[in-house]
Amino acid sequence: MMGALPSGACGVRIRGTGSAVPDRRLTNDDFARMLDTSDEWITQRTGIRERRVLDLRTQGCSTLAQLALERALENSGVQADELDLVIVATVTMEMTCPSVACRIAGAVGAKNAAAFDLGAACSGFVYAVNTGEAMIRAGRARTVAVIGAEAMSSIIDYTDRSVSILFGDASGCAILQADPNPSIGCIYQHMGADGTGWHALYIPRRESDIPAEDATNPIRLGNLRMNGKEVFRFAVTKFKEVIEDAFTKTGLTPDDVSQVVCHQSNIRIIDAAREKLNIDPSKIYVNIDRYGNSSAGSVGLCLDELWRAGKITKGQPFMMVAFGGGLTWASSVWNT
Ligand code: UT7
Repeated sequence: MMGALPSGACGVRIRGTGSAVPDRRLTNDDFARMLDTSDEWITQRTGIRERRVLDLRTQGCSTLAQLALERALENSGVQADELDLVIVATVTMEMTCPSVACRIAGAVGAKNAAAFDLGAACSGFVYAVNTGEAMIRAGRARTVAVIGAEAMSSIIDYTDRSVSILFGDASGCAILQADPNPSIGCIYQHMGADGTGWHALYIPRRESDIPAEDATNPIRLGNLRMNGKEVFRFAVTKFKEVIEDAFTKTGLTPDDVSQVVCHQSNIRIIDAAREKLNIDPSKIYVNIDRYGNSSAGSVGLCLDELWRAGKITKGQPFMMVAFGGGLTWASSVWNT
């Protein structure tokens, strides 16, 4: 059920956040025991030291999505039945029907909420934030839970060193709520896509999904195939462009924002954008060393760690930015 607001402009406040990662760690040395790789290669090329992986016999994307939602509800003091909408950004749902969003809304008692999954790969959490915020501003919902959650380990071929070392499982959630102050909330958002580049990062279900130029790629059906070099080239350019665009369009400078919350893809991609735009390292949070790339989980996980550490300061804008499969990209600049 989508609650209707009284007419009139409203703002949107982040009421609270939550996140979850599995207990089980997979370190670079664990990979070096399984594959022809080393801690040194992985650390230098990616910045990753370890990642978390689910026990897929009993856990999945919904496990992490639900935990993040429960923790965000607790952190915000919002009751589950106050939620009008639950959006889960993911590409690793256990089943395409029902959605993860429906399952976890049911599990936490969000009986008044509409629920759906959103697929924008690593950009998914920022897409979900922008969608949820716009629904509130439009008066179609009052309280929205946006979640990014991925069980990347369920789509990884662990015999392929070029892909498997990058990814981990994680989730993050933010509870958004209408606020009487219209200047609070998202002041600028951008979402983009270039479907002509889809074959750089995809999960084929059938042989016929595989384009001819990728026929020799050894990765199995149902697992993530990636042209790392192509994604890297796209990401280095696009990441800088998206952050620069958000600063230009809002008139903000890096000094004005508390944080630029980035998708954790590869430390070299983050550093390249940071250096080109001359952003102080303290303004760009990095946890890729501990969790790897958790696709739609990463920005929400960073946001929760920053939120709980008091680094998303009231009265100071912050920015979220991501890119990923599709190809997709997104930014979201907030007044808090
Ligand atoms: O969220 C978006 C998702 N994806 C990304 O953001 C990924 C973007 N791409 C990347 O992060 C990087 O391209 C990778 C980390 C995946 C690869 O790093 P790279 O510096 O682009 O390495 P490369 O693919 O150019 O490979 C260099 C060498 C190759 O060997 P040869 O041909 O030079 O003999 C690879 O076979 O490194 C080899 N290699 C490895 N060696 C040790 C590839 N993976 C590994 C590995 N350990 N895990």
